[in-house]
Amino acid sequence: MPAKIITVFNQKGGCAKTMTAMQLAGSLGLNGLKVFVIDMDPQNTASLWFHQAKPEHPFPAEVLSLSVLKENFLDKLEPLIVKADVILIDCPPSVESRVPWFSLMASDLALIPVIPLLDNIWASKQAEQLVLEARQMRASKGIKTELQAAYVLSMVRRGKVLESCEEALKKAANVTILKSKMSMRNAYPECQLYGCVVTSFGQSEATRELNSLTKEVAGKLGLKLSIKK
Ligand SMILES: Nc1ncnc2c1ncn2[C@@H]1O[C@H](COP(=O)(O)OP(=O)(O)OP(=O)(O)O)[C@@H](O)[C@H]1O
Ligand SMILES: [Mg+2]
Repeated sequence: MPAKIITVFNQKGGCAKTMTAMQLAGSLGLNGLKVFVIDMDPQNTASLWFHQAKPEHPFPAEVLSLSVLKENFLDKLEPLIVKADVILIDCPPSVESRVPWFSLMASDLALIPVIPLLDNIWASKQAEQLVLEARQMRASKGIKTELQAAYVLSMVRRGKVLESCEEALKKAANVTILKSKMSMRNAYPECQLYGCVVTSFGQSEATRELNSLTKEVAGKLGLKLSIKK
């Protein structure tokens, strides 16, 4: 089966795109899948995170830095599609970049990390619009595979604002909201230090959240997870 491709994007900067891509990639890798992260951000955060790992404990997915190629990066995916189970594309933040657009053309799923604060929710409408336009373009090109799209609530803090944001996002009929969330927790960024994902720290609330996210995304894409190593 060709690899399932996931675009992780949002025009908004700093909303946990790289955090979502890397934690999910590593977790899918620990569940027995061959996973690549395509780092399309010139900041190279995903690549730097990957290289923090010690050789005896490698990051459980591969990360390729292809940001210099800009929108031509899709050519490099062809050989990966036959050997990988999942390819996650970590997009750059800027509205001007064409990378998310090209990435959406090739993807099975768009994940839109969004911080549940109203200004972030308002800004995410641009991402939603891009998904709708990409679906139209794919249909006009005769691309038969569906482009699924889902918001992932990131850096979540409980409270009244969270509920209002969830209500606001539910009005987006064309983009679902994942049940799984990533709360604001130190464990997530600590993984950058060791080149790992939260699962490596053992059972914790963060690991439970990541396992839930992994299962939910795998379910959407029909991916079979094996017992965790
Ligand atoms: N759940 C979380 N808990 C705590 N810190 C987090 C969480 N998610 C992300 N962060 C931190 O928030 C910051 C932004 O996250 P991240 O780099 O993943 O966002 P991004 O959308 O990829 O940013 P950019 O637009 O610059 O690419 C980082 O410092 C990251 O370590
Ligand atoms: Mg990033």
